Amino acid sequence: MLRTATAKNSHLDGDSAPRSVARRTQIAPLRIGGLVIDPPVLQAPMAGFTNYAFRQVVREFGGVGLQATEMVNAKGFLEIEARGEGFPDRLWGVHDEARPLAVQIWDNDPATLAEVGARLAQEFGVSVVDINFGCPVKQVTEKAHSGSYLLKFPDRVGQIVERVVQACAPTPVTAKIRLGCTPDNITSAEVATAVEAAGGAALTVHGRTAQDYFRGSADWDQIAAVNEHLRTIPLVGNGDLDDPVKVVERLTQYPVDGVMVARAALGKPWLFKQVAALLRGEPMPSDPTPEEERQLLEHHYRLVCRRFGADKGTVLMRKYACCYAQGRRGAREFRTHVARVTTPAEFHQVVARYFPRVARLTADEAEARSRN
Ligand SMILES: Cc1cc2nc3c(=O)[nH]c(=O)nc-3n(C[C@H](O)[C@H](O)[C@H](O)COP(=O)(O)O)c2cc1C
Repeated sequence: MLRTATAKNSHLDGDSAPRSVARRTQIAPLRIGGLVIDPPVLQAPMAGFTNYAFRQVVREFGGVGLQATEMVNAKGFLEIEARGEGFPDRLWGVHDEARPLAVQIWDNDPATLAEVGARLAQEFGVSVVDINFGCPVKQVTEKAHSGSYLLKFPDRVGQIVERVVQACAPTPVTAKIRLGCTPDNITSAEVATAVEAAGGAALTVHGRTAQDYFRGSADWDQIAAVNEHLRTIPLVGNGDLDDPVKVVERLTQYPVDGVMVARAALGKPWLFKQVAALLRGEPMPSDPTPEEERQLLEHHYRLVCRRFGADKGTVLMRKYACCYAQGRRGAREFRTHVARVTTPAEFHQVVARYFPRVARLTADEAEARSRN
């Protein structure tokens, strides 16, 4: 489905044809309440990954419009505080970090979410409070009746958003959803209507159902269909944006006001910079060389260790290191070795010896190779 100009996205020039790179400067910033997100390209929340160190690496490359933390459990926030243990680990750095920054929270109790949302808005001064209605993990859905479980109950979603909006004002409150719980129970239209009616400031839609988990492809036509159910608030599309050109294509060819990138940013945190250049009508900056990537990996490792200490930092860095190597010849051997490192010395040794030295194939090269 191609993007069509509507009252909501009337910043476009009215023609529905795909735009050339040179005309992409017409993409308007995303407006979330009073906040201007420019470019309208967001870094997704990812539990276990989008911690302070990762966010800093992304920020250093530039080009990202809005970054998000990992999801934080609202009940857990209050329990940790009641025990006199400060704040959840996942909020480390949030107080002083550069803005704009969104913190994502999850739970199913409107009062708990409202209390924590208000604290984040007022004490932490975050730019956006985002509520998770998309997590498909059993611990969140079946055990806590939260995340994507709530997609079955649009009214409940509305009640939650309404309470959190009231508590956080004037800080904008947004929601992140999937299409529904299962392919035969798509509720994104009803949930979108409920979020907007409750005062939500933007809606992000991941184009899969909870049952899909990460299988199959994100359905961008279904994401686009949600646009029909939003009157004024912006729609952010998410799912399978793994290449800068694809990010720009989705932003320009579908009726979305912004796009959100998750997994691809883990191995290519410079992707936002490339997208931003394309949106300005400039040539796309090239990927870092293998040597630059190796240095980046070491830099990321230093940030992770500064935050978590050498022991925990080394273990945590294993998964990022695998993401950086992904798609390269030699990645498997590197993964095998890096998965066992426990000390900084071992980490540096494995990176020096096994981190792939051959540049990744471009999408075109990979496709050409698969045809031959
Ligand atoms: C490891 C991992 C952790 C995630 N954690 C969260 C989370 O905390 N909150 C959330 O809303 N979505 C979370 N997601 C979903 C992503 O934000 C995103 O919706 C999904 O990965 C699809 O986007 P992508 O195709 O660009 O990866 C997570 C995804 C992954 C892979």
